[in-house]
Amino acid sequence: MAKRLSTEAVAQYRRDGFHFPVRVMSAEEARSYRDRLEAAERAAGGPLAGDRRQKVHLLYTWANELTRHPAILDAVEDVIGPNILCWGTTFFTKEARSSSFVSWHQDATYWGLSTDDVITAWVAFADAPVASGAMKFWPGSHLKNQLEHRDTFDTDNLLTRGQEIAIEVPDGAGVDVALRAGEMSLHHVLLAHGSGPNTTDDRRIGFAIRYIPPHVRQLKMRDSATLVRGRDTYGNFDPEPVPRADLDPAAIAAHRDAVERSAKALYSGTDRKQFRA
Ligand code: NI
Repeated sequence: MAKRLSTEAVAQYRRDGFHFPVRVMSAEEARSYRDRLEAAERAAGGPLAGDRRQKVHLLYTWANELTRHPAILDAVEDVIGPNILCWGTTFFTKEARSSSFVSWHQDATYWGLSTDDVITAWVAFADAPVASGAMKFWPGSHLKNQLEHRDTFDTDNLLTRGQEIAIEVPDGAGVDVALRAGEMSLHHVLLAHGSGPNTTDDRRIGFAIRYIPPHVRQLKMRDSATLVRGRDTYGNFDPEPVPRADLDPAAIAAHRDAVERSAKALYSGTDRKQFRA
């Protein structure tokens, strides 16, 4: 029985590879998450960058709490079932009037995961209108299997390798994913998506949470993940600790270990070992 999404919403996800918008919290609650992020940024001397924008749930209590948010997990459960691991979290922040973009890509390309029942919950910490560089989804592209990608390492590109799909995406293929603060979109790991620059006067802040059912395996190396709901009877991932306080020494050590593993998987085949800024 569905916990959060309608039968139609789940059917749309299976057919198109995405579903949005799903309201998961009030605008005020989203604002409180934004405030905590921005306090962390002030303490760090700037936007979370490099390793610090990856696996954020291992560094900050509020980010960890968000990966367990019942409204998010209820919707995710409707798609991948009751046993849920959080495999990753990444901020995709575009500053006001900035040229940052995300090329058309499929998330699955470098992740090394064994199956495609991997779902991203992209939670808007601020309003993300089309002009802010909202995501675009290519409906049905998750059914094309893995497409060939090429790396660009473009510095304005927010992706780890600046990777892009090596075929032409048809003009007008993209559906604009405008979201209000406190809403999320859900997308499939093989869905082609991208986004343009932010032409507005506010920051566009998205927190992408990657969820997998525990039967998924990491094919590249021994990886880690956080059980956020149900049970893991497979043990394919090393469990990750919950931070006891923001940036406490144990959290920083656990985060370093986890991002080193992720970087190894994501940059395999290149000479890079660390997430770029
Ligand atoms: Ni992506």
